[in-house]
Amino acid sequence: MKQVNHPTIDQLTDTHPVALKAINITKRFGGLVANNNLNITLHIGRLHALLGPNGAGKSTCINMLSGDLPVSEGRIELFGKDITSLTATQRSLAGMGRSYQRTNIMLDFTVLENARLAAQSRNQQAWKWLSLAMNQKASVEKAMQSLERAGLQEKALRKASELSHGEQRQLEIAMVLATDAKVLLLDEPLAGMGSHESARMVELLNELKSSHAILLVEHDMDAVFAVADDVTVMVNGEVLETGSPEVIRNSPQVKIAYLGEDEGDTQSRNDLGLVKEAVYV
Ligand SMILES: Nc1ncnc2c1ncn2[C@@H]1O[C@H](COP(=O)(O)OP(=O)(O)OP(=O)(O)O)[C@@H](O)[C@H]1O
Ligand SMILES: [Mg+2]
Repeated sequence: MKQVNHPTIDQLTDTHPVALKAINITKRFGGLVANNNLNITLHIGRLHALLGPNGAGKSTCINMLSGDLPVSEGRIELFGKDITSLTATQRSLAGMGRSYQRTNIMLDFTVLENARLAAQSRNQQAWKWLSLAMNQKASVEKAMQSLERAGLQEKALRKASELSHGEQRQLEIAMVLATDAKVLLLDEPLAGMGSHESARMVELLNELKSSHAILLVEHDMDAVFAVADDVTVMVNGEVLETGSPEVIRNSPQVKIAYLGEDEGDTQSRNDLGLVKEAVYV
């Protein structure tokens, strides 16, 4: 396989500034350590994939980063500022946006209304100063821009329930964009999608990453290897390995953890795609 020289983290900070840093974060649920001493750094302009089998602790990590769950230990910095004690709403206002593993859109509302409500959540200050009409106009404009970015502008007046599954996941991304988030934490946005819808989402992620820092939790390895610049693999709440997609693909530890130790059996056990070639370009 062709070797790619990836830049070091120091070289990266010039061209891709650090957006989010999780330093030794740990989450305990009673006796269960769901995340143990995790370190993750996200850069503007790069997509960091977080992989791991079911129950590895990926959603827990996102929940701590977004403020949906408090950390048990450790520190989280957003653009150099300690945000560990901020609430999820405060983090959202500071530029962090997340999507959920299970969709949280309002199905009886139109696509535009869903995006507008997300945009409005960003305008809390503006409510105090602007008239209702002006505020709504700004929110509608922001919502339409976000829908356009996510490729849903033509569906703006449809009820969200009428969208396909893939379009509903696109709407979730549009809602995150409508909040003006610079850091996107996306928990399995491709879950349940067909190959055409996944390819479209991969295209959208590739577009978005130039102007955002993205953390992507995903099980679809073809998609991951098509968009990721950095990859962290978690097992049992711990980081097994962090590196470039090439490093992860060729990592003996990752192969053992995912595929079992029997090298001769890997072709038939490639359920996580580690021996498959990516189909996206
Ligand atoms: N609120 C909670 N209370 C107690 N235990 C929890 C809670 N949330 C998660 N866990 C446990 O923490 C561990 C990690 O769960 P988590 O949802 O983070 O895994 P995951 O990697 O996202 O898995 P999946 O791929 O299935 O989504 C699991 O054992 C889970 O049961
Ligand atoms: Mg999860």
